[in-house]
Amino acid sequence: MNNQPIGVFDSGVGGLSILLEIQKELPCETSIFVADQAYVPYGRKSKEELIERVGKIMDFFVKKEVKAVIVACNTATVYTIDEMRKRYRMPIIGTVPVIKVIARMPRSGKTAVFSTPATANSQYLEDLIQKFAPNIEIKKIGGSNLEELIEEGDLNNPEIKKRLEFHLIPLLKDGVDAIALGCTHYPFLKEKIQRIVGQKVKIVDSGGAVARRLKEVLTNENMLAAQKGTDLYYTTGDSGKFEKVAEELMKGKIKASHVDL
Ligand code: DGL
Repeated sequence: MNNQPIGVFDSGVGGLSILLEIQKELPCETSIFVADQAYVPYGRKSKEELIERVGKIMDFFVKKEVKAVIVACNTATVYTIDEMRKRYRMPIIGTVPVIKVIARMPRSGKTAVFSTPATANSQYLEDLIQKFAPNIEIKKIGGSNLEELIEEGDLNNPEIKKRLEFHLIPLLKDGVDAIALGCTHYPFLKEKIQRIVGQKVKIVDSGGAVARRLKEVLTNENMLAAQKGTDLYYTTGDSGKFEKVAEELMKGKIKASHVDL
């Protein structure tokens, strides 16, 4: 048993979609969430810049004595997780599009991964596809700055719908019937996406898989918590703005603190 918290981070509020799944799967775990909003979006940073940012967040988690870290960001995972696993000893669990799941799913047509352009263009994603779905046609679609619009908190902004239609309607014409969401901000748009593509298209995100993997790791290491403490939320940006948007997305009261990292 181990009641130390788990560290969860993203460039912004997207990682909260992963945190929600963790809270469902592991209700006794306490978390420290970091939104690196002074540096969002990660998708426009170089690999070196991302390693620097993630290193600072990891150092913060070390000071907070977390027992494991969840990289609740696909972009940070594909560009930095290998390096972080070399530098830090605690378990580090990443978030990547669920390629294995869409490869195994009964499908009639093609599939797509809808992510930030940075993840879509990464070698890491290409390697995952070659490893788990070498014989399946998977289209890689890089969304145009949707995460920045989600950061503003107005999910009903007509620009979001416009951009989703721009990316998704061509997929329907191509006969895509399964879409993996490869950005942790996008699950908050799942209903909107489903409305555009219709009920026959399956949309899968990574939250459940990440939460189950965390449970497996904590179980194997005998590190599951026996008692829940207080979840903490930090942002490198404006804590008031984070609270407002996070409360909307998490449907609950959130108290956040600003931290310089
Ligand atoms: N939420 C992050 C992800 O899963 C992306 C946002 C960003 O590029 O900052 O990739």
